[in-house]
Amino acid sequence: MSEHQPVLLTEVVNGLQIRPNGIYLDLTIGRGGHASQIYQNLKTGRLLGFDQDATAISSLQSWVKQRPLASLYHMNFQYFPEILKQLGVEKVDGILLDLGVSSPQFDVPERGFSYRFDGPLDMRMDQRQSTTAAHILATSDLKTLTQYFREYADETFAYPIAKAIVNQRKTQLLKTTLELVNLIKKVKPAKALAKKGHPAKQVFQALRMAVNQELEVLKKVLESATSYLAVNGRLAVISFHSGEDRIVKQYFQSLTVSQGQRHGPERYLPVAAIAFKKVKPYPMLPTQKEMQENHRSESAVLRIIERIIDEK
Ligand SMILES: C[S@@+](CC[C@H](N)C(=O)[O-])C[C@H]1O[C@@H](n2cnc3c(N)ncnc32)[C@H](O)[C@@H]1O
Repeated sequence: MSEHQPVLLTEVVNGLQIRPNGIYLDLTIGRGGHASQIYQNLKTGRLLGFDQDATAISSLQSWVKQRPLASLYHMNFQYFPEILKQLGVEKVDGILLDLGVSSPQFDVPERGFSYRFDGPLDMRMDQRQSTTAAHILATSDLKTLTQYFREYADETFAYPIAKAIVNQRKTQLLKTTLELVNLIKKVKPAKALAKKGHPAKQVFQALRMAVNQELEVLKKVLESATSYLAVNGRLAVISFHSGEDRIVKQYFQSLTVSQGQRHGPERYLPVAAIAFKKVKPYPMLPTQKEMQENHRSESAVLRIIERIIDEK
């Protein structure tokens, strides 16, 4: 099985300004690449790792056994506040969200995330959940499918692809990744097929986001994550496509905008209410070297926010 190379590792670890006695949450622990580095900076603090994928959690069992300051939780990150309540933790010093799918998830055909291999149309990060990509393709109406492809992945041929899916399922349901790839290839005109990038990339991304309700949980977790940050605590978010990054960017902007900045007067927060600052005014991106060594880092965008005053 492929390993996962952590993206923007130095930028994340430096950006979190880890305190040896701090409490840190890695809400997307995956194969533990970022978590291992965070852990190395702890002396008496704590690291709580979350992932909704059972294979990610089981791959880290022996790692966590040897690390007394670390613990693992197999759950959707939107529920992390329940764990903090159980532990009696009121504030934390740093939170990491490294969004999306890990290399081992992509590279196992049975998970159904990849258009490169034949596999079932699954795409669930949490295999305890019942909705799969096949279920969405079999049950969503034309309008909903079109919206998914257009809004989650900017697919130019959203409507004709959705229409072909709805027609196809009248005779036979789509069950495998390659059946879907072939359908997409039949719908797209030769000019579109000749373009750089796999013709099924957008539809697969959109379906994955729909199956895992990625944007909905992202919006929820950003709010709860910022509410749990201690003063000087930082939230780092790595996103991998424009839909995700837009949500992060706009949310960070709404928390940090001050009088005199560019939004209309109705959007101004009184200066006293500004409890956060952006660690850098611009997003952090991988270097050329990182992109060459790990092509999955190419679309990564890191944004970090810091709480500067406590909640009233
Ligand atoms: C890009 S990988 C993280 C890789 C990790 N930083 C590392 O260095 O190995 C994203 C991980 O987040 C998990 N994930 C994505 N959305 C999640 C959610 N809503 N709740 C819990 N885990 C989630 C995925 O299962 C995957 O393992």
